[in-house]
Amino acid sequence: MTSDNSQTQEPVQSSNRDRVIIFDTTLRDGEQSPGATMTFEEKLEVADLLDALGVDVIEAGFPIASEGDFEAVSAIAKRVKRATVAGLARAAFKDIDRCADAVRHAVNPRIHTFISTSPLHMKYKLQKDPAEVLEMVTAQVTRARNHVGDVEWSAEDGTRTEMDFLCRTVEAAIKAGATTINIPDTVGYTVPDEYERIFRTVRERVPNSDKAIFSVHCHNDLGLAVANTLAGLAGGARQIECTINGIGERAGNAALEEVVMALRTRADILPYSNNIETSMLTRASKLVSAVTSFPVQYNKAIVGRNAFAHESGIHQDGMLKNAQTYEIMTPESVGVSKTSLVMGKHSGRAAFKSKLKEMGYELGDNALEDAFKRFKDLADKKKIVYDEDIEALAEDGIGHAGERISVEALTVIAGTMGPQTATMTLNIDGQSQTRQAVGNGPVDAIFNAIKALVPNEATLELYQVHAVTEGTDAQAEVSVRLAENGRSVNAKGADPDTMVASARAYVAALNKLMVKRTKGKPEPMTARLKP
Ligand code: KIV
Ligand code: ZN
Repeated sequence: MTSDNSQTQEPVQSSNRDRVIIFDTTLRDGEQSPGATMTFEEKLEVADLLDALGVDVIEAGFPIASEGDFEAVSAIAKRVKRATVAGLARAAFKDIDRCADAVRHAVNPRIHTFISTSPLHMKYKLQKDPAEVLEMVTAQVTRARNHVGDVEWSAEDGTRTEMDFLCRTVEAAIKAGATTINIPDTVGYTVPDEYERIFRTVRERVPNSDKAIFSVHCHNDLGLAVANTLAGLAGGARQIECTINGIGERAGNAALEEVVMALRTRADILPYSNNIETSMLTRASKLVSAVTSFPVQYNKAIVGRNAFAHESGIHQDGMLKNAQTYEIMTPESVGVSKTSLVMGKHSGRAAFKSKLKEMGYELGDNALEDAFKRFKDLADKKKIVYDEDIEALAEDGIGHAGERISVEALTVIAGTMGPQTATMTLNIDGQSQTRQAVGNGPVDAIFNAIKALVPNEATLELYQVHAVTEGTDAQAEVSVRLAENGRSVNAKGADPDTMVASARAYVAALNKLMVKRTKGKPEPMTARLKP
C-alpha cells in the first residue's frame, strides 16, 4: 500500500481535480450484447437507478433500431430528472431526425452520431472513400446541431484509424458543432500507452480541440478496457463511456463500477472527480444482472460475490487484526453492508419489508405479498434464511405484478424408471388449467406441459441453474432466455425445488414475451393463450 488515501479509505476532496463526465451506455452498448435484451419497464427501472447513481449522461438506446427502442428512449427522456439523455444515431439524416425526436423531451438532450473512420471499415463496411466520409461528418453533425445544442460525434474504430485522417475528421466535427468527441476502441485492440498517445496527439494537432470534451469508449476484447480508459484520461479525455457490470458488444465495455472505484481508491495518483454515489454500485450491478440474466462472475472486481470474501486462514487472521491488510476499499463503500436484521420464521411482514428496503429493493404491494408468502414457506423449510435467499425472492418478484400466467401447482415424476412426467397447473387470466406431459428429463417434461397450456413458438436459448447459498437445502435460482420472432427475453425463478424454480422462470419469460410495449401499453404477442 503506497498512498495515504488508500490507508484511510476516505475519498479525497474534489477541489483541484478535473471533473470527469460519466457516460453510461448500459442501455445501448450493453443492451447490444447478445441475449441482454431488456423489456420496456426494465429499461425504465435501470434508467431511474442510473440517474440516482449520479451518472452524468445516460445513453438510453438507438432510436432508429426499432419502435421499441424509440419508445424506450423517449420515455426515459421524459422521466429522467437530472442526467443528460443521449440517443445514438448513424451518419444518416433519418437516424439523426429520429434520435432528435426521441430525446427532445429530456431536460438535457444529446444526439450521439458516429461513422467509421478506419481504412478497413471505410473500405469494407461503408464502401466509401475518406473524402466522402469527411463530408458526411460535417453534414451529420450539422444536422444534429440543428436539433440540439449537445452533440457527440464518434470516430468508430478510432484506434485503428490513420492519425492524419482522424485529426481531419475530429476538426471537421468540432467545426460543425460537436461538443464531445469520442475516440472509441471499437474492437478492444489498443493498449494503454497507445490510447493515451492517440488522445495527446489529436488534442495537440487539431487546432479547435479546446472547443470539445474528449471521450473514451473501450471494449474489453483483450481485457484492457478499464486500463485503457484510465490511460485515455491521462491523454486528456474527460468523459468516460462505460456500462454496469461491463456488459456490451462481445467481451463488453469498461465496467463503470471498476473505473469509478479505481478513481476513488487511487485518488492519490488519479486527480479526477466524478458524481457517482459508490454505495449504490452493488445495487446497480444486481439490477442489471437480474434484468439481463447475465450472472456476475464470482471473482468480478468490485461487485462479484467474492470481491470482499476472505477464505484463507492467513488472510482471515490479517483481516481480524486490521481490515486494511487485505482490503483496499471497504465493502460499505460499494454498498455491501452487514445488514442488521436477521430473518427467520418468526419475522413479520413489516420486518420483511424493512429488510428488503435495507437491501435496496422496493416491491409493489402484490409482489411484496407474494415474496412474503414465499419467504414464510422458505423459513419453514430452511434452518437459516440468508440475505441471498431474500434477494433471490425479491428478484423473482420484480416486474411480475399484473402478469397473466402464474404457476399454481406442479408434480414431477423423475428418476431412473421414466418416462419423466410433469403435471402442471397454471393460472391463466384468472383460470386454473392443468396439463400433463412427458419429456426427455423432468425439466423438458415441465416445459412441454407449459407449452401444452400456453402454445408458443419460442425457442429456449438459455437454461441455467445456480444455488443461491450453500447446502443441500439451498434455493435454486433458474435463469431462462426465450426467443421468438427475433426478440429475446430473460427471466429468473427461485425456489428450494429446482423443478418449481424452472417452471417459474419459464413462465416469467413467457409473460414477458406476451407483452410488447407500444407507446407504453401492453399488447398481446405471438405467445397465444388458450381460450
Ligand atoms: O464501440 C463503438 O465504436 C461504439 C460507437 C457507436 C460509439 O459503440
Ligand atoms: Zn461500443
